[in-house]
Amino acid sequence: MITLALSKGRIFEETLPLLRAAGIEVLDDPEKSRKLILDTNQPDVRVLVVRATDVPTYVQFGGADMGITGKDTLLEHGSDWGGAGNGAGLYQPLDLQIAKCRISVAVRADFDYASAVRQGSRLKVATKYVAIAREFFANKGVHVDLIKLYGSMELAPLVGMADAIVDLVSTGNTLKANRLVEVEHIMDISSRLVVNQAALKLKREPMRKIIDAFASAVGKV
Ligand code: PRP
Repeated sequence: MITLALSKGRIFEETLPLLRAAGIEVLDDPEKSRKLILDTNQPDVRVLVVRATDVPTYVQFGGADMGITGKDTLLEHGSDWGGAGNGAGLYQPLDLQIAKCRISVAVRADFDYASAVRQGSRLKVATKYVAIAREFFANKGVHVDLIKLYGSMELAPLVGMADAIVDLVSTGNTLKANRLVEVEHIMDISSRLVVNQAALKLKREPMRKIIDAFASAVGKV
């Protein structure tokens, strides 16, 4: 049995064509079903539906043999597990080039970020990406107080709780709708295939087949 950990939403949707390229069809729609283990057309392949931030954990601890997760999630997970931002030693054979977006710093349109940074002000930064934000501002030599949030980061500058946010930006619509502007591009993000190394040794052939099918489908689906 090969167990694949996926999260609902954009990553799931964009993973389906890759799975199809590997001959795998998921038989349930996770948006409609309450099931957390989904069957596929292949009796020896199943899909776990987990929270996006839990995908690396399931793969690291062998709850899943492989998983698909954003680079953002992997970097934060790596820092929780003492890895130097490398996803805690999870084997990452592929950049799947799906769910592409970026991590940026954004502020209220009326906040003078450039002057604040130039004057060496201490910035209050709200984010779900504490490790990424800490490293980014440390490298710039900017002092920050980080406020950890779990979602709707855009609110924090609007209610005066933070000067800036560090968040994912895709279309930019959420920033625009909340009158925030992007002032720094920290890094590009895409989803990665992560693999449990012990599982890869034990189930080398069927896992290789999936990895190779994904690799040849990258950029084409
Ligand atoms: C992400 C991110 C932004 C939004 C950006 O949130 O946190 O809020 O998408 O997308 P846009 O640039 O296309 O508007 P997501 O929907 O993933 O939910 P989250 O708040 O749980 O992170």
